Amino acid sequence: MTLFRLDASIRTHDSASREIADIIEEEWLAARPGDTVASRHIGVETLPATAWAAAVTGGMTPEPDRTAEQREAVALAAALVDELIAADAVLFGVPLYNYGVSQHFKTYIDLVCADPRAAGERFLGGKPVVLATVRGGAYGPGTPREGWDHSTPYLRRIIADHWGADLTVVEREFTLVGVNPALDSFKDQAAQMQAGALESAHRAGRALGALPSPV
Ligand SMILES: Cc1cc2nc3c(=O)[nH]c(=O)nc-3n(C[C@H](O)[C@H](O)[C@H](O)COP(=O)(O)O)c2cc1C
Repeated sequence: MTLFRLDASIRTHDSASREIADIIEEEWLAARPGDTVASRHIGVETLPATAWAAAVTGGMTPEPDRTAEQREAVALAAALVDELIAADAVLFGVPLYNYGVSQHFKTYIDLVCADPRAAGERFLGGKPVVLATVRGGAYGPGTPREGWDHSTPYLRRIIADHWGADLTVVEREFTLVGVNPALDSFKDQAAQMQAGALESAHRAGRALGALPSPV
Protein backbone atom coordinates (compact mmCIF):
# COMPACT_ATOMS: atom_id res chain seq x y z
CA MET A 1 0.00 0.00 0.00
CA THR A 2 1.11 3.55 -0.59
CA LEU A 3 1.11 6.61 1.64
CA PHE A 4 1.44 9.86 -0.30
CA ARG A 5 3.07 12.59 1.80
CA LEU A 6 3.26 16.23 0.81
CA ASP A 7 5.05 18.89 2.89
CA ALA A 8 4.47 22.62 2.39
CA SER A 9 6.77 24.05 5.08
CA ILE A 10 9.47 26.27 3.59
CA ARG A 11 11.86 24.67 6.11
CA THR A 12 13.54 21.30 6.15
CA HIS A 13 14.86 21.59 9.74
CA ASP A 14 13.04 22.46 12.98
CA SER A 15 9.73 22.27 11.16
CA ALA A 16 6.78 21.62 13.46
CA SER A 17 4.56 20.37 10.64
CA ARG A 18 7.26 17.96 9.52
CA GLU A 19 7.70 16.74 13.10
CA ILE A 20 4.00 15.77 13.15
CA ALA A 21 4.12 14.29 9.65
CA ASP A 22 7.28 12.30 10.51
CA ILE A 23 5.45 10.63 13.41
CA ILE A 24 2.50 9.74 11.19
CA GLU A 25 4.82 8.34 8.51
CA GLU A 26 6.74 6.34 11.16
CA GLU A 27 3.50 4.86 12.52
CA TRP A 28 2.46 3.92 8.97
CA LEU A 29 5.77 2.19 8.31
CA ALA A 30 5.74 0.50 11.75
CA ALA A 31 2.38 -1.07 10.90
CA ARG A 32 3.37 -1.81 7.30
CA PRO A 33 7.10 -2.44 7.06
CA GLY A 34 8.30 -2.24 3.49
CA ASP A 35 5.30 -0.30 2.24
CA THR A 36 5.82 2.66 -0.02
CA VAL A 37 5.84 6.31 0.98
CA ALA A 38 5.70 8.61 -2.05
CA SER A 39 6.53 12.21 -1.25
CA ARG A 40 6.70 15.78 -2.46
CA HIS A 41 8.12 18.76 -0.61
CA ILE A 42 6.45 21.66 -2.37
CA GLY A 43 7.78 24.21 0.14
CA VAL A 44 11.27 23.54 -1.22
CA GLU A 45 10.76 22.01 -4.66
CA THR A 46 8.06 24.48 -5.60
CA LEU A 47 5.37 24.09 -8.20
CA PRO A 48 5.53 26.88 -10.80
CA ALA A 49 3.09 29.66 -9.92
CA THR A 50 2.26 30.14 -13.61
CA ALA A 51 1.28 26.50 -14.14
CA TRP A 52 -2.29 26.88 -12.90
CA ALA A 53 -3.40 29.40 -15.54
CA ALA A 54 -1.63 27.39 -18.24
CA ALA A 55 -3.36 24.18 -17.06
CA VAL A 56 -6.79 25.85 -17.02
CA THR A 57 -6.44 27.53 -20.43
CA GLY A 58 -4.77 24.37 -21.78
CA GLY A 59 -7.79 22.36 -20.63
CA MET A 60 -10.02 24.68 -22.66
CA THR A 61 -7.85 24.34 -25.77
CA PRO A 62 -7.99 21.39 -28.20
CA GLU A 63 -4.92 19.22 -27.62
CA PRO A 64 -3.21 19.92 -30.98
CA ASP A 65 -3.55 23.68 -30.46
CA ARG A 66 -2.00 23.80 -26.96
CA THR A 67 1.24 25.67 -26.40
CA ALA A 68 4.21 23.81 -24.95
CA GLU A 69 3.60 25.58 -21.61
CA GLN A 70 -0.05 24.49 -21.60
CA ARG A 71 0.89 20.87 -22.39
CA GLU A 72 3.42 20.84 -19.57
CA ALA A 73 0.96 22.35 -17.09
CA VAL A 74 -1.87 19.97 -18.05
CA ALA A 75 0.57 17.06 -17.59
CA LEU A 76 1.68 18.42 -14.21
CA ALA A 77 -1.92 18.71 -12.96
CA ALA A 78 -2.57 15.16 -14.15
CA ALA A 79 0.56 13.88 -12.37
CA LEU A 80 -0.57 15.48 -9.09
CA VAL A 81 -4.00 13.88 -9.37
CA ASP A 82 -2.41 10.53 -10.33
CA GLU A 83 -0.47 10.64 -7.04
CA LEU A 84 -3.63 11.21 -5.01
CA ILE A 85 -5.60 8.53 -6.83
CA ALA A 86 -2.76 5.96 -6.59
CA ALA A 87 -2.33 6.48 -2.82
CA ASP A 88 -4.19 4.43 -0.23
CA ALA A 89 -3.75 7.25 2.28
CA VAL A 90 -2.57 10.84 2.08
CA LEU A 91 -0.66 13.06 4.51
CA PHE A 92 -0.44 16.83 4.08
CA GLY A 93 1.86 18.98 6.27
CA VAL A 94 0.82 22.63 5.90
CA PRO A 95 1.80 25.62 8.09
CA LEU A 96 -0.15 28.84 8.48
CA TYR A 97 1.55 31.72 6.69
CA ASN A 98 0.35 35.33 6.81
CA TYR A 99 -3.00 34.29 8.28
CA GLY A 100 -3.77 32.28 5.16
CA VAL A 101 -3.03 29.21 3.09
CA SER A 102 0.60 28.59 2.19
CA GLN A 103 0.93 29.93 -1.35
CA HIS A 104 2.67 26.73 -2.38
CA PHE A 105 -0.21 24.61 -1.13
CA LYS A 106 -2.77 26.90 -2.79
CA THR A 107 -0.93 26.45 -6.09
CA TYR A 108 -1.08 22.68 -5.47
CA ILE A 109 -4.85 22.77 -4.75
CA ASP A 110 -5.53 24.90 -7.83
CA LEU A 111 -3.51 22.58 -10.05
CA VAL A 112 -5.29 19.49 -8.70
CA CYS A 113 -8.65 21.20 -9.33
CA ALA A 114 -7.56 21.98 -12.91
CA ASP A 115 -7.48 18.28 -13.79
CA PRO A 116 -10.87 17.09 -15.13
CA ARG A 117 -10.90 14.11 -12.74
CA ALA A 118 -10.87 16.47 -9.74
CA ALA A 119 -13.18 19.10 -11.23
CA GLY A 120 -16.33 17.36 -9.97
CA GLU A 121 -17.28 16.83 -6.35
CA ARG A 122 -15.70 14.31 -3.95
CA PHE A 123 -13.17 12.71 -6.32
CA LEU A 124 -11.24 11.26 -3.36
CA GLY A 125 -14.35 9.24 -2.43
CA GLY A 126 -13.67 8.74 1.30
CA LYS A 127 -9.90 8.21 1.03
CA PRO A 128 -8.19 8.73 4.41
CA VAL A 129 -6.30 12.01 4.52
CA VAL A 130 -4.46 13.49 7.49
CA LEU A 131 -3.78 17.23 7.52
CA ALA A 132 -0.95 18.18 9.88
CA THR A 133 -1.24 21.92 10.31
CA VAL A 134 0.71 24.28 12.58
CA ARG A 135 0.51 27.92 13.57
CA GLY A 136 3.07 30.16 15.22
CA GLY A 137 0.43 31.96 17.30
CA ALA A 138 -2.80 30.90 18.96
CA TYR A 139 -6.28 31.31 17.54
CA GLY A 140 -8.61 29.62 20.06
CA PRO A 141 -11.83 31.12 21.43
CA GLY A 142 -11.20 34.35 23.32
CA THR A 143 -7.69 34.93 21.93
CA PRO A 144 -6.96 38.29 20.28
CA ARG A 145 -6.51 36.56 16.91
CA GLU A 146 -9.60 34.34 17.09
CA GLY A 147 -10.95 34.03 13.55
CA TRP A 148 -7.68 35.10 11.89
CA ASP A 149 -6.68 31.59 10.78
CA HIS A 150 -8.00 31.66 7.23
CA SER A 151 -6.12 28.51 6.26
CA THR A 152 -7.51 25.62 8.29
CA PRO A 153 -11.24 26.17 7.58
CA TYR A 154 -10.48 26.53 3.85
CA LEU A 155 -8.33 23.39 3.81
CA ARG A 156 -11.12 21.44 5.57
CA ARG A 157 -13.61 22.74 3.00
CA ILE A 158 -11.48 21.69 0.03
CA ILE A 159 -10.07 18.37 1.28
CA ALA A 160 -13.16 17.01 3.06
CA ASP A 161 -16.15 18.71 1.44
CA HIS A 162 -14.97 19.34 -2.12
CA TRP A 163 -12.55 16.44 -2.66
CA GLY A 164 -14.56 14.09 -0.44
CA ALA A 165 -11.70 12.74 1.68
CA ASP A 166 -12.15 11.17 5.11
CA LEU A 167 -10.18 13.94 6.82
CA THR A 168 -8.38 13.91 10.16
CA VAL A 169 -6.76 17.18 11.26
CA VAL A 170 -3.79 17.21 13.64
CA GLU A 171 -3.08 20.76 14.79
CA ARG A 172 -0.42 22.48 16.84
CA GLU A 173 -0.41 26.14 17.86
CA PHE A 174 2.13 28.46 19.50
CA THR A 175 5.10 26.99 17.59
CA LEU A 176 6.77 30.43 17.85
CA VAL A 177 6.93 30.18 21.65
CA GLY A 178 10.63 29.82 22.45
CA VAL A 179 11.47 31.59 19.18
CA ASN A 180 9.73 34.94 19.72
CA PRO A 181 10.62 36.31 23.23
CA ALA A 182 7.32 38.25 23.32
CA LEU A 183 5.59 34.87 23.74
CA ASP A 184 7.76 33.61 26.62
CA SER A 185 4.91 33.74 29.13
CA PHE A 186 3.09 31.04 27.13
CA LYS A 187 5.82 28.39 27.53
CA ASP A 188 3.75 25.94 29.61
CA GLN A 189 0.71 26.27 27.39
CA ALA A 190 2.85 25.77 24.26
CA ALA A 191 4.52 22.68 25.72
CA GLN A 192 1.09 21.19 26.47
CA MET A 193 -0.07 21.98 22.94
CA GLN A 194 3.01 20.32 21.47
CA ALA A 195 2.58 17.19 23.61
CA GLY A 196 -1.11 17.01 22.67
CA ALA A 197 -0.34 17.41 18.96
CA LEU A 198 2.36 14.72 18.99
CA GLU A 199 0.00 12.32 20.79
CA SER A 200 -2.69 13.07 18.20
CA ALA A 201 -0.10 12.42 15.48
CA HIS A 202 0.66 8.96 16.90
CA ARG A 203 -3.07 8.22 17.06
CA ALA A 204 -3.67 9.40 13.48
CA GLY A 205 -0.66 7.42 12.22
CA ARG A 206 -1.80 4.25 13.97
CA ALA A 207 -5.27 4.67 12.44
CA LEU A 208 -3.72 4.91 8.97
CA GLY A 209 -1.52 1.91 9.73
CA ALA A 210 -4.61 -0.11 10.68
CA LEU A 211 -6.31 0.45 7.30
CA PRO A 212 -7.33 -2.86 5.74
CA SER A 213 -5.22 -3.93 2.74
CA PRO A 214 -7.12 -4.13 -0.54
CA VAL A 215 -8.01 -7.73 -1.50
C1 LIG B 1 6.67 34.20 6.41
C2 LIG B 1 5.95 33.61 7.58
C3 LIG B 1 4.68 34.02 7.88
C4 LIG B 1 4.03 33.50 9.00
N1 LIG B 1 2.77 33.91 9.27
C5 LIG B 1 2.16 33.44 10.37
C6 LIG B 1 0.84 33.87 10.69
O1 LIG B 1 0.20 34.65 10.00
N2 LIG B 1 0.29 33.38 11.82
C7 LIG B 1 0.92 32.49 12.62
O2 LIG B 1 0.34 32.07 13.63
N3 LIG B 1 2.17 32.05 12.33
C8 LIG B 1 2.77 32.50 11.23
N4 LIG B 1 4.03 32.07 10.92
C9 LIG B 1 4.66 31.09 11.79
C10 LIG B 1 4.52 29.67 11.27
O3 LIG B 1 3.18 29.29 11.16
C11 LIG B 1 5.23 28.75 12.24
O4 LIG B 1 6.60 29.12 12.35
C12 LIG B 1 5.13 27.30 11.81
O5 LIG B 1 5.71 26.50 12.82
C13 LIG B 1 5.84 27.08 10.47
O6 LIG B 1 5.72 25.73 10.09
P1 LIG B 1 6.99 24.74 10.18
O7 LIG B 1 7.42 24.76 11.63
O8 LIG B 1 6.47 23.42 9.77
O9 LIG B 1 8.05 25.27 9.28
C14 LIG B 1 4.67 32.56 9.81
C15 LIG B 1 5.97 32.12 9.47
C16 LIG B 1 6.60 32.64 8.37
C17 LIG B 1 7.99 32.17 8.03
